[in-house]
Formats: sequence, structure tokens, C-alpha cells
Amino acid sequence: MGKRILVVGVDGGVGSALAARLRAQGMQVTGTSRRRPVADTAGACIPLDLASDLSGWTPPGTIDIAYLCAAMTGLAGCRDDPQTADRINRHNTLLLARRLADAGAFVVFLSTSLVLDGLAPRAAADAPRKPACDYGRQKALAEDGIAALGASAATLRLTKVIRSGMPVLGNWPADLAAGRTIHPFDDLRMAPIRVDHAVEALVAVGHGSEGGLFQVSATHDITYADAAFHIAERLGVPRDRVSPCRSDEAGVILIANPRHTSLDATRLEQTYGIAAPSPFDALDALAPP
Ligand SMILES: NC(=O)c1ccc[n+]([C@@H]2O[C@H](COP(=O)([O-])OP(=O)(O)OC[C@H]3O[C@@H](n4cnc5c(N)ncnc54)[C@H](OP(=O)(O)O)[C@@H]3O)[C@@H](O)[C@H]2O)c1
Repeated sequence: MGKRILVVGVDGGVGSALAARLRAQGMQVTGTSRRRPVADTAGACIPLDLASDLSGWTPPGTIDIAYLCAAMTGLAGCRDDPQTADRINRHNTLLLARRLADAGAFVVFLSTSLVLDGLAPRAAADAPRKPACDYGRQKALAEDGIAALGASAATLRLTKVIRSGMPVLGNWPADLAAGRTIHPFDDLRMAPIRVDHAVEALVAVGHGSEGGLFQVSATHDITYADAAFHIAERLGVPRDRVSPCRSDEAGVILIANPRHTSLDATRLEQTYGIAAPSPFDALDALAPP
């Protein structure tokens, strides 16, 4: 019989891809959704709103592996309503983690490179956390709570996850192909990974059941402008359709703008053979040949 898996936040970009992969592998996946009616028609799904009072929450039956993928992920939302964001991203996330671990599940929590200050590339997993935004602070506190669960839980810290249809970058291929000029920021960096790569790492960490902190990242950072030029070249459209600008020129005040976002993924490679890919690999997924 396949493992019994809970994906908290099955409607999200990562949670939906993870649930699809696990179901394709024959696992018994239950998702959770805050949407009404519950949206996941691909399999079992239960309602769960992490902003609500979950003090009476108990796991839905026996769970072998639980992935905590739901979060308030918008940086502006976390800054503007830190109380709600803290309830979702830290308090209730940790409540679920503890109840699931107590019931015998191995818990996998998804965190972010934004728990770090970004001063150095390929940040070590044990680098001091110095988040510069509310979202990063909430995630750092949640990491502490997950670490307190010891061998029952792992944190997977992720850099920027790329998937087709995502906001901003997801529109670039169609815009470029239609002859429109795009204006990527040349002062914003990322070490992007494909959603498939993040899912591969999550599956390995969940099934491997080794607790502690894993990091998943591209080998190095690139700017959003580098990414746009790469997509234009791949699509065979003229380079001058990419017109980079600084974020402030576009009237955008970035809530967090670390100099580096790349993470040292050595433990993931040594434990599960999943090596850090080139950052351009993720962009190729947005613009297939
Ligand atoms: N994507 C990245 O680049 C990235 C990078 C680093 C870390 N991460 C982390 O990876 C995880 C997954 O990210 P993602 O890209 O899949 O994010 P996402 O697409 O924004 O999905 C987040 C999910 O959380 C759900 N959610 C939000 N508030 C909720 C609430 N109060 N109760 C229940 N569910 C709620 C959302 O529900 P709705 O669909 O109904 O809105 C959504 O399905 C998050 O923990 C994120 O912090 C992501």
C-alpha cells in the first residue's frame, strides 16, 4: 500500500504540483484547501483555513508524511497584516506540525531563503538568520518550532520557484512572442528552480524521513533582466524587446531585495543525490523550444 500523505495547501503552486506527483506515484494523498467549495477534484480534500481557530484540530486519520505548503506568501500582505500572517505562517502552521508529529507523521515544512540577510552567496544552512521582512521573520520563527520537533520533522528552504502561468515571469514568453517589450528589473536577483525540482526534493525529503534542515537552490543568482534576456534568446525574438530598468524607475519599492538568494544545497545532494541546477534551467521550463 502507498504511503498516506497530507498536503496542507493543495491549491498552491507547489502544493498542487506535489500532490499530482505523489498521486502519480500511487500514494494516498489527502489535500487541504481553504476554498469553498473544496476545489481539489483530483482526490481527497478537506477544508482547512489556517487563519481560523484550530485549537481543536486533529489529523484526518493516520498520516505517514505531512507537507505544510500553505502560507500567506505575499510580502506586502505579511507586512500590512502581520497579525494574520503570523497566525497563518507561524502559530497555526506549528500547531498542525505538532499535532501531526504527535500522531506519528513525518512533517515537512516549506521555508524560504528570505529568512537570511542575503549578504553571501550559497548561504550555509546554519548561517545566522537575519530576515529583512515580516514574511521572512514569520518563517524563521516557524523554522525554530519545526526544529524543536527533532527527528519528526524537516524544513526545506527554497529559493524562487518557477512554474508556468506564474505572475510576472510567466507572462514574459507570451509578451515577447507577441512583439511586446518587457521591462525586467536589473536590481532584483533570484536563484530560480523549477517547481518540478522543488517537488523532487520534497518527495525525497518526505520519504527519506531525515529530520533537520535541507536547502534547495539553483547554483547561483541571476537578475530578472538576465532571466528575460535568456527567455528572449530561447524564443528567438530580438534582444531589444527586453528593456531592463531599476525597480525604483518602475515606481516599485521592493519589500526585500537581498544581494544574494542562493543557498548551499550540499546536504540535499549528499543525502538524496539532488544537485543544484543552473538558474537558467528553470527559465527553460517557461519557454520550451
Ligand atoms: N514559490 C516560491 O517561490 C517559494 C519560495 C520559497 C518558499 N516558498 C514556500 O513554499 C510554500 C508554497 O509556496 P507556493 O508558491 O505554493 O505558494 P502559493 O502558490 O501562494 O500557495 C500558498 C497556498 O496557501 C494557501 N493559503 C493561504 N492562506 C491560507 C489560509 N489562511 N488557510 C489555508 N490555506 C491558505 C493558499 O490558498 P489559496 O490558493 O486559496 O489562495 C495557497 O493555496 C509556502 O510556504 C511558501 O512560503 C515558496
